[in-house]
Amino acid sequence: MVLREVPRESRSCEPVLKWAGGKARLLPEIVKRLPSRKLWTGGYFEPFVGGAAVFFHLVPAHARLSDWNPELVHLYTVIRDDVEGLIADLGRHMHDRTYYYAVRAIDPETLSPIERASRTIFLNRTCFNGLYRVNQRGLFNVPFGKYDNPTLCPTDRLRAAARALEGVSIAQGDFEAAVAEAKRGDFVYFDPPYVPLTPTASFTNYTSSSFGVEAQRRLAQVFTDLGKRGVRCLLSNSDTPLVRELYAGHHIDGVLAPRAISRDGEGRKAVGEVLVRNYA
Ligand SMILES: C[S@@+](CC[C@H](N)C(=O)[O-])C[C@H]1O[C@@H](n2cnc3c(N)ncnc32)[C@H](O)[C@@H]1O
Repeated sequence: MVLREVPRESRSCEPVLKWAGGKARLLPEIVKRLPSRKLWTGGYFEPFVGGAAVFFHLVPAHARLSDWNPELVHLYTVIRDDVEGLIADLGRHMHDRTYYYAVRAIDPETLSPIERASRTIFLNRTCFNGLYRVNQRGLFNVPFGKYDNPTLCPTDRLRAAARALEGVSIAQGDFEAAVAEAKRGDFVYFDPPYVPLTPTASFTNYTSSSFGVEAQRRLAQVFTDLGKRGVRCLLSNSDTPLVRELYAGHHIDGVLAPRAISRDGEGRKAVGEVLVRNYA
């Protein structure tokens, strides 16, 4: 990877996607707890990258981003490699219900790389609440959203994101493989799917949930093992007894963060989250 010429602070930018669990609101608390430059001498890893709010804020010199979601990883790769092609393609989309469902029905793998990335941005900006959800066949199934005049092509954000992503390694895959090569002095920020505040059947029965109790336990083990190798890690999760049990022995700070996407119709509520560190 190459060193950037421009100081990272001047490259800070906004996420290009609306993302459930996006970290924009928790950013000040995260920034306060970053490892000092003495401890963080190497690269940056974000293995549950989602909307990448933390990466786009920090714009570290050497970064490796990854996620299980192939559409997300593909989008960031296209933004990095051909942002002008993507901006040009976004110009052909329309904000229209029938058009939305036609684009939603397309199998992304049949599209060109640019069209596939453009479809992801279009759906994210026009679907209900910017949610990302797929059915059992892996097809996107979020309904049309209620926006009056959404920005279908966030040109400035895309160009800024492309500058931030220059030279960044981007990969699809599981979090454990993504951090396998992290070494002493590197810093990892983990933002996994959260443990539900009230455990649901799909969470506790790990055969029917993609990130259930077993995955949370595996993640806690990876977090602890990285610490033993001198890799500094920060993790966000919900403030639940399971999370406190899994990370007992590490530094756990409770923080209150307003929830971005509310499902209970009561509007935005502050919910308890924790930030866990394996360094002082
Ligand atoms: C809470 S979101 C991340 C939010 C993000 N950091 C942000 O600021 O917007 C969790 C992410 O984990 C990803 N994910 C789920 N299971 C995974 C796994 N086993 N390995 C890597 N990523 C996974 C999802 O695709 C999702 O993007």
